[in-house]
Amino acid sequence: MMTHRELRKSYIDFFKKRDHVQIEPSSLVLYNDPTTLFTSAGMQPLISNLLGAKHPMGTRLIDIQPCFRSVDIDEVGDGRHTTFFEMMGNWSLGDYFKKEQIEWYWTFFTEVLSLPKEKLYVTIFEGNKEIPKDIESETLWKKLGVAPSHIREYDVKKNWWSRSGPPESMPEGEVGGPSSELFFEFDTVLHTPRFGSVCHPNCECGHYVEIANSVFVEYKKSNNSLQLLPQKNVDFGGGFDRIMAAIQNNPDLFTTDLFSQIITSLEELANKKYESQKSEFQVIADHIKASVMICKAGITPSNKEQGYVLRRLIRRSLVKMNILGCSMKPDIKPLVKSILTIYDGLYDLSEQDNGTISKTIQDEIERFDETLRRGLKYFNKLNNDQLSEQAFNLYQTYGFPLEVTQELTAQRGVTLDTNTFHQMNQTHKKLSKKASIGFFKGGLADQSEQVVIYHTATHLIHQALRDVLGAGVRQEGSNITGERLRFDFQSSFKPTDEEIQEVQNIVNEKISEKLPVYNLALPKSEAEKLGALSFFREKYADTVSIYCIGGSAEQPDVAYSKEFCGGPHVINTDAIGKIKIDNVKKIGSSTFRLYAS
Ligand code: ALA
Repeated sequence: MMTHRELRKSYIDFFKKRDHVQIEPSSLVLYNDPTTLFTSAGMQPLISNLLGAKHPMGTRLIDIQPCFRSVDIDEVGDGRHTTFFEMMGNWSLGDYFKKEQIEWYWTFFTEVLSLPKEKLYVTIFEGNKEIPKDIESETLWKKLGVAPSHIREYDVKKNWWSRSGPPESMPEGEVGGPSSELFFEFDTVLHTPRFGSVCHPNCECGHYVEIANSVFVEYKKSNNSLQLLPQKNVDFGGGFDRIMAAIQNNPDLFTTDLFSQIITSLEELANKKYESQKSEFQVIADHIKASVMICKAGITPSNKEQGYVLRRLIRRSLVKMNILGCSMKPDIKPLVKSILTIYDGLYDLSEQDNGTISKTIQDEIERFDETLRRGLKYFNKLNNDQLSEQAFNLYQTYGFPLEVTQELTAQRGVTLDTNTFHQMNQTHKKLSKKASIGFFKGGLADQSEQVVIYHTATHLIHQALRDVLGAGVRQEGSNITGERLRFDFQSSFKPTDEEIQEVQNIVNEKISEKLPVYNLALPKSEAEKLGALSFFREKYADTVSIYCIGGSAEQPDVAYSKEFCGGPHVINTDAIGKIKIDNVKKIGSSTFRLYAS
């Protein structure tokens, strides 16, 4: 049976032979992409290149990208869903298109991986009022010998891909296109009517499982309609874990070597066999693996954004450990160790964890364990009518994430009315002016004009802060909506009102100078020599993309601002208009948060 390491190698080798260059995967948390919490698709770090910016490594790229999708959290436990997964990617950035893509990946799956053709089904886009049916892909599949009964058509809901779903949900500036997916048929999983009367490849019952997706990224949302991009791109995503399952012809991802060691460690911890309580085992194995990966990206449990997602994953795992009958404050070190062993040497992970990752997770477990037990006692005393009303109290007083209360309630055969929770939370948020949990579903993907404008403005603010407060200023992160920008930075002292005013004046002066904003692809050492600001937590490839404001591509050394960044940006500061710094406050011992609009 092929191991996950062999699969990685065969994939990379196959596409390298077809002139692709392997790029470094990005961090699970893109510190310089304020529009999203986690990397959730391989294409995410390449958006500006799909839009037309030159990629330093050329027009044919491959990688395997760690991804996290919290939207799938409720499905974990069915054997085929995980929140953390790896995505095999290959891209054509205005290079080859459907013919090569379809032919290559069919060859890869049927000849290199030897998946039986009779178990493979493909899908194409059926077309709608705006976009024609993808006849070209259909013809190509037929030419490759795929039987017509194994080629199915679907509408925008199934065979259109963008980060935000079908065309009508795409925000301004978002890229997308029709897709052609590949499904593997698992004979052992039988269709259940709960998913519809008739089973078909894109049915959710698990009889057919999507293992790969080729998106033909030709369109961009612009002025409320789809416009053709200047170049035709291919964005391929292969579900690495699911492909492992297809290779072994067993739909349970947790029996592949991406999970088996974790399951064994958990069996020892719980003193139970996997078969006895598969769903709990799967949730714990997935969530702890995702937690390790999120910790590795520099996040610690907290009450906001990525930190809160991490907290919920760890807390939910602990609840499941409790259900499995694990002891109090279970020692998760062996679990973390087995995860690090599986990924040893990949993504900068090492079997020899210096202890930081296990400690971060263990600390959260210990912190929550006591309150969990007290909360459970409280919960057990509540009668069924009180549960919906008490969900918010359980969250606030005992730190129970909503889905934990939902699950506990479901065990009593009662459905929680989550509206009550959300209403109480809204009221509480208004009162305390916190926005604490709204991000969990994540994946906000807004590349609208205003967001792009604010993103460019953060570069100017960053440099202006350094001009006024000194080179000790370092960006910590940013968060941008269509209404305002937020910029966190490190400084050893609190800026005065006068200093902030000066920063604002500089930013507006630079805007009025109508400076060009341009992208350069440079070897990392040259970018550093040029003085481009990088993010200390991000790991960069040997060749990097930087954005400069001012100067010119021939003379970037005189640029006003230079930053390691993937974009997107406005092309001239003129487009920014006026920036007003609304507020600067202290949020950590030497961290400050600036709001501007
Ligand atoms: N970006 C495509 C996906 O995530 C390949 O499915």
